[in-house]
Formats: sequence, C-alpha cells, structure tokens
Amino acid sequence: MTPSKIRQTMFKPSGPLSGKVRVPGDKSISHRALILSALAVGKSRIEGLLEGEDVLATAEALRSMGVTIDKSDDVWTVNGVGVGGLMQPETALEMGNSGTSTRLLMGLIAAHDISATFVGDASLSKRPMGRVIDPLSEMGADITARQTSDHKACLPLTVRGICPAVPLDYHLPVPSAQVKSAILFAGLNTPGITRVIEPVPTRDHSETMLKGFGADISTETDKDGIRTISVTGEAGLSPQKIKVPGDPSSAAFPVVAALLVPGSDVIVENVGINPTRAGLFAVLQKMGGDIQFKKKRTVGGEPVADIHVRHSALNGIDVPADIAPTMIDEFPILFVAAALANGRTTTSGLHELRVKESDRLTQMAEGLAILGVDVTEKDDGLIINGSGGKALSVTQKKVTIKTALDHRIAMSFAIAGLVTKGGATVDDMNPVETSFPGFENLITELVKK
Ligand code: S3P
Repeated sequence: MTPSKIRQTMFKPSGPLSGKVRVPGDKSISHRALILSALAVGKSRIEGLLEGEDVLATAEALRSMGVTIDKSDDVWTVNGVGVGGLMQPETALEMGNSGTSTRLLMGLIAAHDISATFVGDASLSKRPMGRVIDPLSEMGADITARQTSDHKACLPLTVRGICPAVPLDYHLPVPSAQVKSAILFAGLNTPGITRVIEPVPTRDHSETMLKGFGADISTETDKDGIRTISVTGEAGLSPQKIKVPGDPSSAAFPVVAALLVPGSDVIVENVGINPTRAGLFAVLQKMGGDIQFKKKRTVGGEPVADIHVRHSALNGIDVPADIAPTMIDEFPILFVAAALANGRTTTSGLHELRVKESDRLTQMAEGLAILGVDVTEKDDGLIINGSGGKALSVTQKKVTIKTALDHRIAMSFAIAGLVTKGGATVDDMNPVETSFPGFENLITELVKK
C-alpha cells in the first residue's frame, strides 16, 4: 500500500530524451491474468506481470480466497482453484487505490457462495460502485454499500454472493470495461448465457483472455457498432502461459515527453497497441506527432509494437467525444501535450473523468492554470489554448501541484515539469507506485542517454 510519508518532488526543465526503454506490464491485462488463472484448474505462468500496488492488491485478495500465487525469476505462477472454487476470505479485502481490483473481484464473488467486504483508500472510497452493484444485484448477489450524502454507493461495501446466480442480459449505461468484465466474470459461474451489450466498444482484454483460457465466449457487432458479448456459464478454464505486454497507458508518458522536449528521439519497446486502448497515439499523430509503430506483432492475442517517437511541433485539435473510451486514462497527459501545442484543443464527452482516481478535469485544469496555461474547464471536458512550444512557467510562488492520490495526475505534471522554465513541484509522487513503479528512474535514464 502507499507509504504515508509524502514524496514532494520537483521536475526540472530537461534536455533531449533519447534511447530505448520498456515500460512495466499492462495493468488491465495483469489483473485479468491473475483472476482468470485463479479460476483455471491447475498452474498458470505469467511473465511481464505489472508489480504495481493495484495488481498486488488483486493478487493478495485472490490469495485470501484460497488461490496460491508465487513468484520466482520474474515468472508468476498461479495455482487455480477452478470456476466456483474460491473460498471465504477471513478478513476484509484491502483494495488500496484500485478501482479495477474492486469491480472485477466484486463480479467474481457475486457468483460464488461466499461473502467479502471491500475497503480502500480515500480516493477509491469516493468512487461510484452503483454501476457494478446494479447488474450484480440483478444476478442475485446481495450487496450493501456505504451511501454518501449525495446518494452514491461507495466503499466500504460487502458482497454476499449467490450460487447459482441468475444469468443476465445487460445494456451498459456507461461505457465501462470494468463493469463489462465484472458481469462476464460473474457469468462464468452462472448457469446459462450471460450477455453484456455495449453501445461503445471498451477495452476487450477480458474477452480475448477468456477465449485464451477456453471459455465459450463470443462477440457480435451490429451495423451500428453495438457489441453483444455472450459468455456461457459453468465454464471449465484450462491453465495458460501468459506474456503481458507493456502498458500503453504508461508508455503515454515517455511518448508525450519525447514529443514535447526539443531534440528528443525515443523508442518504447513492447507496447500493447490494442485498438480499444490506442486512441491517444492516433490523436497525437493527428496533432502532428512523429510516432511510428515498428515490429508489429501479436503476443497472447494482443497486438504489440515498438513505438518510435521524435520531438514534434504539435497543433491543437478538436478531439471527437467518441474516441474517449479508447484513451480514457490518457486525457491527463493529452492535456499536457495540448498545453504545448500551437492553437486550441477542445475535448468533450468526458464526464467519466470526474469519477476516476480523482476528478481529473478539475485536477488538470487547476494544475495547468498554476503553470500559466490558458485552460477552461467545462462540465464534460477542457479547452486549452497551447503555448505553441514555449516553455510553461509557474504563475505563483511556492505552489505545488495537487495530485489528489491520482497516479496519472502525478505523472502528467512530472512530464509538464520537463517543459517549464523553472520546474514544477508535484505534491506527492507516491501514488505512481499503483501503476508505474520505476517511472522517475525511466525518465531520468532517457534524459541522461
Ligand atoms: C480499466 C477500465 C477503465 C480504466 C481503468 C482500467 C480496466 O475504467 O479507466 O483504469 O482494466 O477494465 P472503466 O472501464 O470504468 O472506464
């Protein structure tokens, strides 16, 4: 869990970034690799697992439900208990900062004859859980959650699962891969067919991996692009060998740093470029970013490439609202790119950003304003008039940028610091451990090369 001593850090103006680096394993894929391995019968091996706090919270929770998980020589082994085989945990599940662990594991527990209480840090305890509670309750789980004064259901919460649960046809009211996955995972131990209908495609790692583990799962897309994902319950999963690619959401930080710092030339190797995740790279290319995908290949059913990026003069852009799900975690760092672009960048349709690890629209607008950026916060997005490549500078003395326990806000302002006149101070870099251990070393390494 995040250490309590805060780590205020100054990020100074930087010379060119150069060299080849790798970022840690994909967070979404790592959670799913542990969870599906836990439900297979026998031993799965996972290479490249992200060892960030969020993923470790998932591993710990699975251990407390009877799954044996070990690590040796960078390979993780998971001794699965089979679908339906999870045991009653004896203590509350500590979820730390991790919304993905919470929502995915709620789905798993909902269709087991066990109960579990979920607790988390201050950020996670503010995040809405009604979106998972509703469908899982329809499947028969009994879930009690703390109600906030504005009537949101939040952690701590207790899921009392049911076996057998009732299969469900569920239209996702908000595009959310976490909600989709929670329902599909509950469907695995539910007789009959469980269907999730998603109006806008969200990341499809669960579907790809479920197929890999031998589940009976199919996706149909209609003429309007609406996807129906069907999973047949009471599944038998067979153990797998999984290679987790580098996380595109983590690669986003060195990629934007290289675009913004003059003279930079960087290769980020082995990055997942699944189209349901790669929206940022397409937007940056449209802004004029020199980003090339080299050595494209498929690893464990996921498209992967080495990303070659060189410093580029960026132009502002109107980012279409419908691209949001493919870059939902990348808006904070896109806003930093927009702050240095030439002209105006507009974004819309981003209500979901207000319920991530922090309210990312407000945190980014406030932080960018401290750095002298011309930024307007709307209800559903930001409008940014970029500096046209000119270094940013702190408008008030002795201010630190607040990250509100949000790893992606912390990393975004760390990168912004590299393109300031006098540096930027981030109030606490500890949250970065949730998704990108080694972030600061990697940036230092690129600056030194
Ligand atoms: C995730 C899905 C996204 C994303 C989160 C990870 C996942 O959330 O923001 O960081 O692994 O399924 P939503 O599906 O709620 O948009």
